[in-house]
Amino acid sequence: MQFTVALDGPAAAGKGTIAKALADKTGFAYLDTGLLYRAVGARHLDGDEPIAAAQSLNAADLEREDLRTAQVAKKASEVAVIPEVREALLSFQRSFARMEGGAILDGRDIGTVICPQAEVKIYVTASVEARARRRFDELVARGDDVTFEQVAQDVADRDARDASRDTAPMKPAEDAIVLDTSDLSIADAIDAAYRIVQQKSA
Ligand code: CDP
Repeated sequence: MQFTVALDGPAAAGKGTIAKALADKTGFAYLDTGLLYRAVGARHLDGDEPIAAAQSLNAADLEREDLRTAQVAKKASEVAVIPEVREALLSFQRSFARMEGGAILDGRDIGTVICPQAEVKIYVTASVEARARRRFDELVARGDDVTFEQVAQDVADRDARDASRDTAPMKPAEDAIVLDTSDLSIADAIDAAYRIVQQKSA
């Protein structure tokens, strides 16, 4: 059985939390595609050339401790505008999306470019304020030294870069269902997404 759930949307909208919960409920495999770009960004921060880093990405790159930092997030969105970087990461994501047993992928271009035939497409979004607050709380909980203003600016800058790039810009697929989580609890957001998956798989 092939069944793909594509979860796209801007930074800190809740895609990862929803995706993990859906993976638990459905038994589908889960891929956080942002981690691939973060790993390329981290290698670039180390001095590697981004295209070469994307072409030689390995499992250890994806296990680095620093992938969730604000600095790596920014670099990720910078390397993500390079078409050859995206191309190098394409076939792995496509095969993952169509693996037997079902797959959930979260990112920016899953429903539009990686898997346009996905059975379920949800565009998860929230206000910039709500997303910046969530990301700020996450980074502080990790022990990072950041201010709310800095995080809000980083989120807004990254949204602008992700939405305006020429290759695979962040946008809802035409057939995506938009889920705004600004005023939803985590449990309510997960329920809403799970209901959409159930309707499409019925
Ligand atoms: O967790 P958060 O939503 O903040 O970001 P992420 O999903 O880890 O993605 C980090 C960056 O990678 C994004 O800002 C995008 O520039 C890039 N990305 C992308 O271009 N395409 C994807 N499918 C996933 C991430």
